[in-house]
Amino acid sequence: MIGVLVSGEGSNLQALLDDGLPIVAVASNRGEARALARAETAGIAAECFPLGAYESREARDAAMADWLATRGVEWVVLAGYMHLLRPVFLERFTGRVINVHPALLPEFPGAHAIEEALAAGVPETGATVHYVDEGVDSGPVIVQERVVVEPGDTVETLRARIQAVEHELLPRVVRDLCLAR
Ligand code: GRF
Repeated sequence: MIGVLVSGEGSNLQALLDDGLPIVAVASNRGEARALARAETAGIAAECFPLGAYESREARDAAMADWLATRGVEWVVLAGYMHLLRPVFLERFTGRVINVHPALLPEFPGAHAIEEALAAGVPETGATVHYVDEGVDSGPVIVQERVVVEPGDTVETLRARIQAVEHELLPRVVRDLCLAR
């Protein structure tokens, strides 16, 4: 069973839900994340774990891991989750935490990958699904798909094409990994 961590819009969460994957819990660091509302609409347990409510990141991550484990989560998918995870979380789901990132890692890690790819003038960028470690988008790559940067692309047009790729790529990888074991 799958838990999903989110911070924002939740379009990747929606792609996972629409694919019919066994998602049983959705957790966020931001109560106002639209993704939480999407989970609730789908009838899935959704909870917010704001950093400010805990005495440390470790305490927050431990509480979030407990909550997911209680619901039977074995695999954790980060779908637009914008905080790093501490070892106390990762050790609970060793080798079973994955993330989707809007660039061809190791190029353009971090929160501004699309802006940085455009500014760098690269001819192509893309989407990556990778295992999560303690670093910023630094874990081993599972799969990547290229997206050509078109003349006249803006952050918005490039993001739309990358996200269209993510919405197909992420459910496919999650299905292959999670349901194979
Ligand atoms: C995605 O582009 C993902 O690659 C990045 O954050 C974005 C989240 O979008 N990590 P959404 O919340 O799934 O719509």
